[in-house]
Amino acid sequence: MQQVFTLQELWQALAALPAPLGLVPTMGYLHLGHLSLVQRARQECASVAVSIFVNPTQFGANEDLSKYPRNLQRDLQMLKETGAHLVWTPSPEELYPAGYQTWVTVEEISRPLEGAMRPGHFRGVATVVAKLFNATRPARAYFGQKDAQQVAVLRQMTRDLSYPTEIIICPTLREADGLAMSSRNVYLTPAQRAAAPVLYRALQAAALAHQNGERRAEALREQVRAALRAEPQVRLQYVSCADYDTLQELETVQGKALLSLAAYAGETRLIDNFVLGD
Ligand code: PAF
Repeated sequence: MQQVFTLQELWQALAALPAPLGLVPTMGYLHLGHLSLVQRARQECASVAVSIFVNPTQFGANEDLSKYPRNLQRDLQMLKETGAHLVWTPSPEELYPAGYQTWVTVEEISRPLEGAMRPGHFRGVATVVAKLFNATRPARAYFGQKDAQQVAVLRQMTRDLSYPTEIIICPTLREADGLAMSSRNVYLTPAQRAAAPVLYRALQAAALAHQNGERRAEALREQVRAALRAEPQVRLQYVSCADYDTLQELETVQGKALLSLAAYAGETRLIDNFVLGD
């Protein structure tokens, strides 16, 4: 496995790799969820590149970029063991040189849910992923379903900007108690960690109600709220039951829908989702 830093080094390394290329964009502090993306890319692509870059432009003013967990040596070891061929670890200056002023804004689909709670977040995500795609020209790029709106935004961007890249969505990996794997879980205190699987249980309760025939979106949202009310360590920020493609809130669930939520355990913000009617 080769590690490269600059764009020049990246281009040189890519030229020597057989096509098709699979790209797994990450912000590091890898867990099994990331490694499952690398494994899937290994199955489907001749070469697998992973980017590790804590992208400053997707953090809001009140979100602490400097505290984002990092452990590059551990990440590199994990990627080597999982069979990645190339790891690109650009510096912030490489991707955002002095005087940088070009942005990718995906409009409607970025507005609700996470976009409403984290203004500017998806502009940062879309911009950096566009830059990663421009630099690597992957045949396929792999993302986790846990960040459901991110995937929707990036699918839209890929279509709109005519990238020849297929977006592959991989299932959310969960701990044994149902908590979705996330680099941010490391922030949880033992008491918060014990409480956090309530997000999964809440989604499960609503999914079961849907399976049993409940189609009123508000009743499904209420199932989630009720489950969260029973856990004082966790504070619900929003629950949404929206059309899977447009992310517009539903009154009645007819086809595929996205049931999603964000909640705080202390200062740590957690998100999770289930796809209904899949
Ligand atoms: O999901 C992430 O880790 C990031 O948002 C991404 C896609 C790597 C862009 O910085």
